[in-house]
Amino acid sequence: MSGRDISTVLFNGSPRKGGNTELCLKRVEKKLQAHGIRTELIPLAEKEIHPCKVCLGCKGKRRCAQDDDLNELLAKMEQADGIIIGSPTWFGSVSGWVKNLIDRAGFVSRMNGHMFYRKVGAPVVAVRRGGAVQTYNTIISFFAIDHFYIVGSSYWNFAFGLRPGEAAEDAEGMETMDDLADNMAHLLKVLKAAE
Ligand SMILES: Cc1cc2nc3c(=O)[nH]c(=O)nc-3n(C[C@H](O)[C@H](O)[C@H](O)COP(=O)(O)O)c2cc1C
Repeated sequence: MSGRDISTVLFNGSPRKGGNTELCLKRVEKKLQAHGIRTELIPLAEKEIHPCKVCLGCKGKRRCAQDDDLNELLAKMEQADGIIIGSPTWFGSVSGWVKNLIDRAGFVSRMNGHMFYRKVGAPVVAVRRGGAVQTYNTIISFFAIDHFYIVGSSYWNFAFGLRPGEAAEDAEGMETMDDLADNMAHLLKVLKAAE
């Protein structure tokens, strides 16, 4: 874990401002802050993140060879103790921004001795009706292959809603976000104390 304060970065993979992914992430963020944990919420749709080109230019460099916004996001991930990746469910999976983030950050990490070793990770998913589990599992697959501690909640971390803001009406979804934040804060503090 890095730094004196405990810090987290939360990525929003939806382009919809005030959308359900943002709503869920803000719910988690507010609780993390109440636990004294620093947070930064980053809308990925404001960033340029191209797909991985498999050029292997990252090997030994700890940076991607492509000149877009990925390296800025990678630096945020390196500095954070906890990483939350939020995505809307799009055709049963993550949005393109999230896919490009995990493909490239994951590849740079693995080509450089697992840069996110023992950080804490969690997915957050917004969904209208179906495919949330696949979306959740796609994000988990990144964390699980890169030495993250993955945090659970009282249910899988997703909330239902179609229109922007509708997920607020999903009481169980909101409770899941709160429990996720509590569990993540607890784990981050335990890890910090063990340093
Ligand atoms: C391109 C696209 C694909 C979608 N695919 C699915 C889907 O597979 N399953 C589903 O339940 N909802 C699907 N939806 C609905 C969104 O998951 C839902 O509206 C969600 O709340 C969006 O989150 P946001 O408000 O953060 O953008 C899709 C929406 C879009 C725009």
